[in-house]
Amino acid sequence: MPLDQRTTLTQFLIEQRRRFPSASGDFNALILDVALACKAIARSVAFGALGGVLGAQAGSINVQGEEQKKLDVISNELFVRANEWGGHLAGMASEEMDEPYNIPGVYPRGKYLLVFDPLDGSSNIDVNVSVGSIFSVLRAPQDVIDSGRDVTAADFLQPGCQQLAAGYALYGPSTMLVLTVGTGVHGFTLDPNLGEFFLSHPDIRVPADTQEFAINASNSRFWEPPVKRYVDECLAGKTGPRGKDFNMRWIASMVAEAHRILMRGGVFLYPRDTKDPSKPGRLRLLYEANPVGFIMEQAGGRASTGREPILQVQPTSLHQRIGLVFGSKNEVERIERYHREPAPLKDDNPLFAERTLFRD
Ligand code: AHG
Ligand code: MN
Ligand code: MN
Repeated sequence: MPLDQRTTLTQFLIEQRRRFPSASGDFNALILDVALACKAIARSVAFGALGGVLGAQAGSINVQGEEQKKLDVISNELFVRANEWGGHLAGMASEEMDEPYNIPGVYPRGKYLLVFDPLDGSSNIDVNVSVGSIFSVLRAPQDVIDSGRDVTAADFLQPGCQQLAAGYALYGPSTMLVLTVGTGVHGFTLDPNLGEFFLSHPDIRVPADTQEFAINASNSRFWEPPVKRYVDECLAGKTGPRGKDFNMRWIASMVAEAHRILMRGGVFLYPRDTKDPSKPGRLRLLYEANPVGFIMEQAGGRASTGREPILQVQPTSLHQRIGLVFGSKNEVERIERYHREPAPLKDDNPLFAERTLFRD
């Protein structure tokens, strides 16, 4: 696309503010700082082995008890440095920081909270598969804004429906930033020569139907019955109750899976399971499930725990994990229905099969 026909991220944000005068656009500068962090991470990731950035950070374990990779630590640092100085933030929280981060006294404090997973899909870094960053912007509680006090974990415990903006950067064959400020979902591709994000995917919509699902099948013995039922029916394909064949994908990089689903539909499940009673799900509510949930809903898709919309969940702790299902609306709704319904009594009895006189 010729340069004079392109829209930069900056231009897009300014024009959005003009089109939606009621929408507060005063976090535009914050979004641009986040975008700068993502560009810096993209560059580090792209250098790979040549940058000396691969592998584990010696002796470093995060609050989740997971080994940190060098790039987890570098990406976290880039996020913090790019966003702490601008005066927009009251505080930050990250997968890679046990406690909330307070804006140092040398900088002014603002009215927003930034929550992020600086590098999602870390297990893929050393094998050169797509990874990403995910972020969410919340408004700080009024007393934080008024007093400028330090933030606490409790200030971040807001349901996802209160997010003002959310997005992710995908470090794949090309680097993309996908963003919602509550007016649909828009994708930008990084021009690596100019170092600028350009609008390449305006108004992304998730198809309501799909024949593609993503789940880590090695956990199948720990799944709850509704999930087992759903996957079994997909696997049964044309000969089963769904009457059509499904394809399966698992990248083990949620950002990359979310992007695939935004581009061509699909459903992603990392459901609550019985693997480890101390971990109700694998993904983290505040900086993985909520931003992806906001993006999916803004693109006409759906995101759920299986039992309730993800954006309605009241968080109880900063690094809380949760079961997550998202993607094409009709599939997510079906999975929610399976959670409400009792399991079919007998799979082989046609009276109780999925499509009979007794079910619609
Ligand atoms: P992170 O690298 O930030 O810890 O998150 C990884 C997440 C997510 O990206 C992916 O969907 C999932 O973990 C992969 O889980 P498995 O290792 O069970 O495949
Ligand atoms: Mn992650
Ligand atoms: Mn991460």
